[in-house]
Amino acid sequence: MCGIIGYIGPKPVVPLLLEGLKRMEYRGYDSAGVAVVEGAQITTRRAVGKIAKLESLLTKEPVAGTMGIGHTRWATHGPPTERNAHPHRSTDGSVVVVHNGIIENAPALRATLKELGYTFTSETDTEVIAHLVEEMFDGSLEEAVANALKKLEGTYGIAVMSEKDPGKIVAARKGSPLLVGLGDGENFLASDASAILAHTRQVVYLNDGDLVVVEKDRYHITDIDATPLPRKVDRIDWDLAEIERGGYPHFMLKEIFEQPQTVENTMRGRLIVEDGTSKLGGLNLTHEQLMAIDNIVITACGTSWHSALIGEMMIEELCRIPVEVEYASEFRYRNPIINERTLCIVISQSGETADTLAAMREAKRRGARTLGLVNVVGSTIAREDDGGIYLHAGPEIGVASTKAFTSQVIALALFTLKLARKRGLSVTRGMAIAQALAALPAQIQQVLDQAQAIEDIAEEYKRASNFLYLGRGFEFPVALEGALKLKEISYIHAEGYPAAEMKHGPIALIDELMPVVFVAPHDAVFEKVVSNLQEVRARKGRIIVITSRPEPALDGLVDYEIRIPETEDMLMPVLAAIPLQLLAYYIAVKRGSNVDQPRNLAKSVTVE
Ligand code: M6R
Repeated sequence: MCGIIGYIGPKPVVPLLLEGLKRMEYRGYDSAGVAVVEGAQITTRRAVGKIAKLESLLTKEPVAGTMGIGHTRWATHGPPTERNAHPHRSTDGSVVVVHNGIIENAPALRATLKELGYTFTSETDTEVIAHLVEEMFDGSLEEAVANALKKLEGTYGIAVMSEKDPGKIVAARKGSPLLVGLGDGENFLASDASAILAHTRQVVYLNDGDLVVVEKDRYHITDIDATPLPRKVDRIDWDLAEIERGGYPHFMLKEIFEQPQTVENTMRGRLIVEDGTSKLGGLNLTHEQLMAIDNIVITACGTSWHSALIGEMMIEELCRIPVEVEYASEFRYRNPIINERTLCIVISQSGETADTLAAMREAKRRGARTLGLVNVVGSTIAREDDGGIYLHAGPEIGVASTKAFTSQVIALALFTLKLARKRGLSVTRGMAIAQALAALPAQIQQVLDQAQAIEDIAEEYKRASNFLYLGRGFEFPVALEGALKLKEISYIHAEGYPAAEMKHGPIALIDELMPVVFVAPHDAVFEKVVSNLQEVRARKGRIIVITSRPEPALDGLVDYEIRIPETEDMLMPVLAAIPLQLLAYYIAVKRGSNVDQPRNLAKSVTVE
């Protein structure tokens, strides 16, 4: 979604802003802009479309300075036009603002400001902030911003500059991530650490309610009543190489191929094979607290919701604790039955998804303990949960989630193992699962080695208009995930269904033009899935099967077979998801889609 970058220091600011904006391209956006301090004036440049358009505008109409702010906009209020692109300017031109989030009372503020004589030039909610800051200005930009913020309802991460109070960028956050990057005689501001990683690793994450004044050799954090707030300096521990493509044509392909290592990293130092359990340092749950859990709610969105479904099955099967999985966007507005004996597991790659964050806060408010399964270190969910299991999958840049999904399943398995062993799972059974976990990285590599065969299948089906994905038991969420991957990057309509449920409706869709992907490894429900497969074949459906053994029952029944290694049923989704990631990837590439930045999608959905 939207991205913010800011810089103040001795260096030419335009290349820095453009580089930062490019690093955030993966988040999804449809226009971009910069504001640069040129002497006593602030100059803005804005363009619709990719950063390259802004870059060429800046070549034609250059600006120069050593202080500025930049923004990528993902349209919410008003279409992606130049007038709606950020930065926005106040009526007298003195104030410029970039903003992530949504100002909910913008219509009322707009009406009031118009009565006061302010002129609006865009359809955005953000523009009210610029005029409000101008209205509140009385010599100090930070005071004006603080007073303006008191009038706002909604969410924001903002960065503001003023011609009347130069030499500083004032920024604030409520519900939209922001951090300060610390340099030597220079400072940065960003909504995403990847924007500034090339320049500094020292960062200060802002909390909701924080306001910061950033100057070139100092920064000062307060609340909006000017009370100073202590905030610790963190260090980003990933490398620049991790946010670069490293020779792959797309981040998505790189991230698919990284999975032997990322899965290993999720388990590193945590798996205790000889005791059939795991060690999870960040859990913050005592033995007594783990034993006292009555029920578990898992909440998430998108791909993370699919891994939650797998977690539900694992935990119920091995721990015998009732588990419910909830879309975070639904959970936050329901009246869920949870209490202090409920554990609420919150799953999010980014740790910033607005609905997931709100669901977690709601669960906390109702007394539940919260456990975050998060990839991005220092993200809001990771900082606000009661305990956590970091995925350690490294930065995921492709909008389609791949390595985060498999690491989420691993993290859930580690947690299940720990809880199950405490709740009576035998050491022998625990050891079998732990050994199966340890074997996964090499098995993932075996699946990846079949990439060429999967690309050939993609060639055959690249013109399909619809796809059906079917699976049962642990493979039903994998079917959902396969369908989501395909639709989000190739724009082919795809549905995931429990295989037996097909008879109750989707079977009507099946004809010789309908490719059906069966996720059917040799698990407890394999025989049942074969019957569903026959039902599709009888109606001339085209069948691609993901299975795990040579099987006479499949002879003559399927068009293509992809073989994955065998493992514990509960871990099979890790292996079964990979061919589906590759299939979606190759089909999308062959259809000419922008795989890493598919249309309309954002990597981190920070609005509800
Ligand atoms: O960062 P999160 O895991 O909270 O994101 C949740 C979804 O927005 C995300 O999984 C989305 O569905 C992906 N594009 C799926 O590939």
